[in-house]
Amino acid sequence: ITKDEHAFLLSCIRDIPDYPKKGIIFKDITPLLQNPEALKITTEALTRPYRGKEIDLVVGLESRGFLFGPSVAQNLGAGFIPVRKPNKLPFHKIAASYELEYGADTVEMHSDAVKKGQRVLIHDDLIATGGTAAAATELVQKLGGEIVGYSFLINLSFLNGKDKLDKNGLFEAVITL
Ligand code: PRP
Ligand code: MG
Repeated sequence: ITKDEHAFLLSCIRDIPDYPKKGIIFKDITPLLQNPEALKITTEALTRPYRGKEIDLVVGLESRGFLFGPSVAQNLGAGFIPVRKPNKLPFHKIAASYELEYGADTVEMHSDAVKKGQRVLIHDDLIATGGTAAAATELVQKLGGEIVGYSFLINLSFLNGKDKLDKNGLFEAVITL
C-alpha cells in the first residue's frame, strides 16, 4: 500500500488504554471496518501478496480473524477454515495449546478441515506474542497442510511473534507497530 493509504489505515485504528486489562492498549479496528474505503484497502492489502500462490485454504483465527479471512479467501479463490476457541466446533476436532503469561490457552480445528498437501494461508487481525498463530500452524501441519504464508492486519513487532512461526511461510503485515 502507499504511504498515504498506510497513514489512512493507521488513523482508522483506535487505541483503547487499559482494555481489556490495566496496562494493555487495545487496538480497536472497528473504525476501520466501518469505513468502506479502509475496508477495501485492507482486504486488498491482505490478499495481494498471495495472488498466484495457489492457496487452497485461508485459516482464520477466532474471532477477529473471521472479519477479513473469508473475504481474503474469496479473493484468492480459496476456501475458509475457522480455528476456534475450545468447545465451539461441533464435529471431530484436533486441538493445540500455547502458553500465556499466566496459564495456557487452546484452539481447535475440525479434523477434516485440511487435506494432506493443501496450501494454507493463516490469517488473523493481529499478531502479538505469536502464540495463537503458532498453535494454528501446529493444527494445519498435524493434518498435513503446507503453510504458504501468514497475513496479519497488525504486527506488534516488538513482541517478536514472527519468530514462533513457520520460517518457510511468507510473512506479511499491513501495519507494523
Ligand atoms: C487477539 C488477536 C489475536 C491474538 C494475538 O485475540 O485478535 O487473535 O490476540 O495474540 P498472540 O499473538 O499473543 O497470540 P483475542 O484473544 O483478544 O480474541 P478475539 O480475536 O476473539 O477478540
Ligand atoms: Mg483474536
